[in-house]
Amino acid sequence: MLMCGIMGYVGPQSIAEVLLGGLKRLEYRGYDSAGIALGTARGIHLAKRAGPLRVLEDEVARNPPPPASIGIGHTRWATHGGVTDQNAHPHLDCEGRIAVVHNGIIENAAALREELSARGHVLRSETDSELIAHLLEEAEGDLLHRLQAVAGRCEGAYALLAFDLRDGNHMCAVRRTSPIAIGYTDSEVFVASGAIALAPWLSRCIYLDDGEIADLWPGRVDVFRLEDLAPVRKVGHEISDSGDLPDSGHHRNFYVKELFEQPAAWRSVMRGRLGDADAVDLTDAGLTEGALRSVKRVQFLAMGSSLHASQMATERLLEFAQIPAAADLASEFRDTRSFLEPGTLAVAVSQSGETIDTLTALRHAQSLGARVLGLVNAPGSTIARESDFVFDLRAGTEISVASTKAFTTQAVALDLLVSALAAAHGRGYDPDHLAALRAAPIIAEDFLAEFLLPDDLVERCAKAPGVIFLGRGQDVSLAREGSLKLKELSYIWSEAFAAGELKHGPLALVDDRVPVIVCSTDPRHTTKLSSSLSEAVARGAYGVSVGADLRGTLHIGLPIQDATAAYLIGALPLQLLAVTVAEARGCSVDQPRNLAKSVTVE
Ligand code: G6P
Repeated sequence: MLMCGIMGYVGPQSIAEVLLGGLKRLEYRGYDSAGIALGTARGIHLAKRAGPLRVLEDEVARNPPPPASIGIGHTRWATHGGVTDQNAHPHLDCEGRIAVVHNGIIENAAALREELSARGHVLRSETDSELIAHLLEEAEGDLLHRLQAVAGRCEGAYALLAFDLRDGNHMCAVRRTSPIAIGYTDSEVFVASGAIALAPWLSRCIYLDDGEIADLWPGRVDVFRLEDLAPVRKVGHEISDSGDLPDSGHHRNFYVKELFEQPAAWRSVMRGRLGDADAVDLTDAGLTEGALRSVKRVQFLAMGSSLHASQMATERLLEFAQIPAAADLASEFRDTRSFLEPGTLAVAVSQSGETIDTLTALRHAQSLGARVLGLVNAPGSTIARESDFVFDLRAGTEISVASTKAFTTQAVALDLLVSALAAAHGRGYDPDHLAALRAAPIIAEDFLAEFLLPDDLVERCAKAPGVIFLGRGQDVSLAREGSLKLKELSYIWSEAFAAGELKHGPLALVDDRVPVIVCSTDPRHTTKLSSSLSEAVARGAYGVSVGADLRGTLHIGLPIQDATAAYLIGALPLQLLAVTVAEARGCSVDQPRNLAKSVTVE
């Protein structure tokens, strides 16, 4: 399964309460059903429900489970099989003594299903995950050895957590690609697919790395190499999240809360890296002057909003730092790139630090000889652990599936990186540029306090068959981000183009029902963008300019001249437009349909 949440617990507290509490903290990642399995004296007690976690919570309240000492829970994002109670995890073996939860996709599921059915196993769901329970039932030895054997039979990416009523009060977990965090006290052990779920009970945890298997007992955790069960020593990590349940405070949802947190997040990423002196210090990321000087090329690897921030940085590296740079969809990079030029720094940009496409691309870049810088908002994440340099975004937890503060904070971070690289390559710092970055948070605060989105624009977009975003230079990536936000939140068909493309196809889409929104935060492109907007308006479009006034139907001004900061401020009205249109259409803002925050399987 994709993007699922895993939670497991052995100890004296109420198992159901701990599991549901952990799953609640993983909820924001996106899921469509949930379940728990508890080990009791009378066998495994199973509760599984399609729909939000509260449906499962109601079920558990109505039908309280018997006392238990061990349990595993799961939030599922459907891939193999529809969204039904039956397909929800955990899954049991034929006898109902082994329980399994799974995050990932078993690629040889069809063959395994056929084999298991032929051997008489009764399969109760359409999932690939249930097959694991039946494979464990057939395997020999203790749970650890059985899980090792079963992992060897599964192709694909996964995190698995299982317990067996006949094997004592412990669980076993194995990881190939999908994340697992583990922590324990003297009398308990906890496991989850993210440290955020452990935060109410623990301040430290360990992370399983790929190809590791763990035996989890109350008060003790043993980690081994999957291939030969050789013991592995693990390093503990701080859990930075507070144990409090994420709370949107006085804001109507997390998206809006995080949108308003942007100025604070920009200050946070600049702290200690951009002071009063006109210089940038990235030594906390290991990027010393020498390390920066050795960079001959930069290859960004990212998905979604993180890719858009990377595309902006690519423009700036090419233009201001004169360092060759490219930003590729991580999912494409690893399939198509067979070489990297010597001296390439690969920059894996990922809010979560767990996006599987980005992680796989990072490994591919390493295999091609590149050193990797991970720019992540989660310093304990897999991408951070596997990177040679780690640039911590420090934007604070982002809960909304659609990114706001992580995107613009990445833009600030990447701008610092561009400046530092340019300086290390003898091009010096641009004091105006750095001053503009320093001033951006306060300008954003003023803008957010005063800005009102024109009703007319919202109404036009809410009923439009499609919305086109245009830009040139850095504004192409801003247009892409504006378009992504609108489609994610409001489900309105939307596309972004480089303005130069307009006449080569997209103009055929334009009529009087189609708003055309032109991002214009870089004064050098004003004239050409103005022509593009005129062409659209001449075909009846409702033409909007954001930034410079391009004399269309509507203008949204930005209180700033410098292109760097205008890029950041320019993102704000686009983010606000997306949420306002989504609300006008009654869409679920924090958890858009079909999407997930952390995409941990290809
Ligand atoms: C998903 C999220 C996007 C995010 C992208 C990359 O698609 O819905 O908001 O931009 O993943 O995520 P990352 O954590 O790697 O930045």
